[in-house]
Amino acid sequence: MSKYPPGKYTPAVEVGLDRMREMAKGNFDLKWMQSNPAGWGHKVTPGPAGLRLRDVDTGYYGNVPEHGSTHGSMAPRGCEVPPETKALPMYTMNEMSEVWAENAGLLYDEAVVRQWNSVTDVPWDKLEKLPDDIERAVCQMCTGLTEVEFVAGDMPAKWLHKINHDFHEVKLFLASQIFDEARHLDVFRKRALANGGGLLMASPGQEELLAAILEAPDYTTASALMHIFGEGFVLTLFRQGEFLAPTEVEKAIFRLCMQDEARHVAYGVKHLKYFLERHPNRAEEVHKILDIGEQAIFTLTLEPQTSEPRAILAGGGLANIDVGAQRMAFIYAKQVKEYLRRLEIAGLNREPRLTIPKEIPYEDLAA
Ligand SMILES: [Fe+2]
Ligand SMILES: [Fe+2]
Repeated sequence: MSKYPPGKYTPAVEVGLDRMREMAKGNFDLKWMQSNPAGWGHKVTPGPAGLRLRDVDTGYYGNVPEHGSTHGSMAPRGCEVPPETKALPMYTMNEMSEVWAENAGLLYDEAVVRQWNSVTDVPWDKLEKLPDDIERAVCQMCTGLTEVEFVAGDMPAKWLHKINHDFHEVKLFLASQIFDEARHLDVFRKRALANGGGLLMASPGQEELLAAILEAPDYTTASALMHIFGEGFVLTLFRQGEFLAPTEVEKAIFRLCMQDEARHVAYGVKHLKYFLERHPNRAEEVHKILDIGEQAIFTLTLEPQTSEPRAILAGGGLANIDVGAQRMAFIYAKQVKEYLRRLEIAGLNREPRLTIPKEIPYEDLAA
């Protein structure tokens, strides 16, 4: 008697067993070998830096459909999709303009090549005992930065699984960003715990901005608020890292994070540009979310747990907090200027709509 009597297994297993029986008799299907003739014979040329995404996504495989394929499966762009492939309803972001940026593939290549880690790439052995006010300021600044880095990973994670697989350059870039941000929150938290201090006070002001990012009504407004506005402010701040870094350790942390943030901002600018070129009538939605963001960041920037530790570090100690506050006012003006410039590159004239001062007139306020 057969070990596999009919009816012993479910229909799905029976289909599999039937196929095995056919194969055992030497009957193979092999249709897959002749599938997708248009995609066969693809040639790649690795560049001097290796085989990048943009080296393989050329020709037939470089065609990104403006409306993502409607089959809604996880089939990779460029393969043949059998008609019986099930459509999956969770992929709801199917318009290229909703997510695309011309530099997404390039930024992904850069992200994977420039991975670093907080275990061995930060010279932790250079940590030294710091004056109490400086250590407290570093720890408070790192508490705030850890808090903000959480949202930077959560935002792309919130949208990633909805994006059509035809836009894999964007999906890969966002996946790299999620890991970049994990590294950032890890390294700032680690620094707070590493030198005899610890975490200090969370920032209620910060929570408002972070919530606005997660609650944005669609991906593009969320991206404008986070990639261009929030991360742009952080990037400008990190570029001034020497002001805020008492030892080689913090300098290295800022330098490493800065190269990652530059990618995130670059994606945001190019995405908004791509979007607005195709949907100029939707600029108002972007303005509206930036109205909210600007209000939140102004509250946050001037919250004591954010502004005071930065001023102490920028001044070199509590005794020089005045000098530090002036330096931070200078950085704030730079943050606003670069933010407006980035939006201008993306095709959004924000200057007439700006809801916060371009400068904090620290000296005038003190007078
Ligand atoms: Fe970050
Ligand atoms: Fe970032």
